[in-house]
Amino acid sequence: MERRYTVRDLAKMKAEGRKITTITAYDAITARLVDQAGFQLILVGDSAGNTVLGYENTIPVTLEESLMLTAAVKRGVKNAMVIGDMPFLSYQVSEAEAVRNAGRYLKETGADGVKLEGGTAMLKTIKRITEASIPVLGHVGLLPQSVLKDGGYRIHGRNEEAQQIIDDALAVQEAGAFAVVLEGVPKLLAKTITETLKIPTIGIGAGPYCDGQIQVVTDILGLGGAFIPRHAKKFADLGQITLDALAEYKKQVENSTFPAEENSAN
Ligand code: KIV
Repeated sequence: MERRYTVRDLAKMKAEGRKITTITAYDAITARLVDQAGFQLILVGDSAGNTVLGYENTIPVTLEESLMLTAAVKRGVKNAMVIGDMPFLSYQVSEAEAVRNAGRYLKETGADGVKLEGGTAMLKTIKRITEASIPVLGHVGLLPQSVLKDGGYRIHGRNEEAQQIIDDALAVQEAGAFAVVLEGVPKLLAKTITETLKIPTIGIGAGPYCDGQIQVVTDILGLGGAFIPRHAKKFADLGQITLDALAEYKKQVENSTFPAEENSAN
């Protein structure tokens, strides 16, 4: 692939039944590797809050922090679409402010679009942003920015709650979003939504039937500490590899075997 992926490529992949592969990244180094691996889309998630920024959850992430991380990711990427994740209170206050803040991702970071959380409640906001020609990735189901209101992280859409999640996904599509993240919903509900929507669904904790999948990069690389969410899988243990490398470097400094002759100038 010699050109950047676009929203049209994702639509085509859904139409052809090809899975869309996406993941988060928060810096240029990781983004470059993700891009080399051939992922179609990188989300600069506000999960940066609890991954790289050391907050307890995503609520404290600021617009300026998110813009800075998005710009760094963009600098590392040639082909993947880069989507900036609008943080808490950067789009909920008014539609005008939402459009202005969404536009900052395109103008100041070079991002290819934005993501925001919410379905029916965000219909008008998403519509205003897409009318300003800013591509929007929706996000329904478990909404991490609503974790305080919801009283924690849990599966959304079981039993009578299912219809609300379907309505939310339909609202996101009606508002003009190019795709929607389904987070923390039962797999058969995700299947129904995927079959109902014309736009692609990207699942996380939503089972195998979505048009694509997204994961938090630190979870799948073993950099997320001891806790791994059920929906994630550790594909490598970079945490342990890093610890071993650091311990070896420290030891070699202490016993004067590093720097060696080949690391030293005459
Ligand atoms: O912030 C994030 O990383 C996300 C994904 C988990 C979808 O919203």
